[in-house]
Amino acid sequence: MKHHLTRPRFTRRLKIVFSLGLLGFAAVMNAADTHAFKPGELWLDAGGKPINAHGGGMLYHQGTYYWYGEHKEGPTTTPACNKSWGGTRTEMVGFHCYSSTNLFQWKDEGLVLRAVTNDAQPDLHPSGVLERPKVVFNARTKKFVMWMHIDSADYSAARAGVAVAEQPTGPFTYLNSVRPEGQMSRDQTLFQDEDGTAYRIYSSENNQTTYISQLSDDYLTHSGKFVKAFAGRSMEAQAICKRDGKYYLIASGCSGWAPNAARSAVADNIMGPWTELGNPCEGKDAQTTFAGQSTYLLPVAGKPGAIIFMADIWKGDDIASSRYLWLPVRFEDDKPRIRWEKSWNLSVFDH
Ligand code: GAL
Repeated sequence: MKHHLTRPRFTRRLKIVFSLGLLGFAAVMNAADTHAFKPGELWLDAGGKPINAHGGGMLYHQGTYYWYGEHKEGPTTTPACNKSWGGTRTEMVGFHCYSSTNLFQWKDEGLVLRAVTNDAQPDLHPSGVLERPKVVFNARTKKFVMWMHIDSADYSAARAGVAVAEQPTGPFTYLNSVRPEGQMSRDQTLFQDEDGTAYRIYSSENNQTTYISQLSDDYLTHSGKFVKAFAGRSMEAQAICKRDGKYYLIASGCSGWAPNAARSAVADNIMGPWTELGNPCEGKDAQTTFAGQSTYLLPVAGKPGAIIFMADIWKGDDIASSRYLWLPVRFEDDKPRIRWEKSWNLSVFDH
């Protein structure tokens, strides 16, 4: 016998079906929404917490992206030693890692290198500076090698630190720090070429000159082969990518947490000579890199020539509230071009 619902029950069921439908629609809309990069907006990880990986770099390994960056938390202070130049800081906590297969949704992989209070490892004392981690995988040793900027609170130590791990998600074992080529080393990045050779690119000579050093075969030391590039140009936040056989660099000027105009350059050989191409940003706020500072040039897997400009929007008076700025890099007349987009996704690279 056919069962007839009474009118109130029927209405209730209708309401439930309708609500479920609405929920489903909202979920689909939400998923679509998370599949857009929104520069400067709060970016939550898969667990709903703000992503905490500043001054970061990316490793793409076996189909997964690993985002490593500075974990910033706690109050922002100006130590007495930095009063003259207004250098604010937060206590060193460590480097945070997130993983993703689509670049939008990030799984929290926790702290992969931590600050320590024991005297055995003064480089990692919370009172110091730990910045700009970059990780590459060494196919020969099967180790994940991380290089970083190690400093004292007043930035006078100016050293490069190195750590290794068996897994991309760590934990990383800290090895030591050096003053490469006998010189200072502050802001830094790594570049791994197609032939497996890795290079470290860093601000040296009191941030005036960018050094490009070839790393040893195991990536754990500097090989001694290096060049001085952009002498006297005071660059920081260097990021490098390779496209159609050419090397491109995007960097910032030196103005602490405050944004400035980015620079770009191209070379046929990573060791130079480099030719400057000017500010890659165009449009409103191009002179301040849309309030950001470069940190990495990320090739998108499966989309040859597609590069994402990864940058930080630093909040110098509340560093833990700093945000991210990711924008597509377009290559026009062989020059990188970056324009502001409020919201975008990877389909921009398809046309
Ligand atoms: C910036 C640098 C950052 C951080 C900051 C401290 O110039 O790129 O990584 O060191 O100075 O003021």
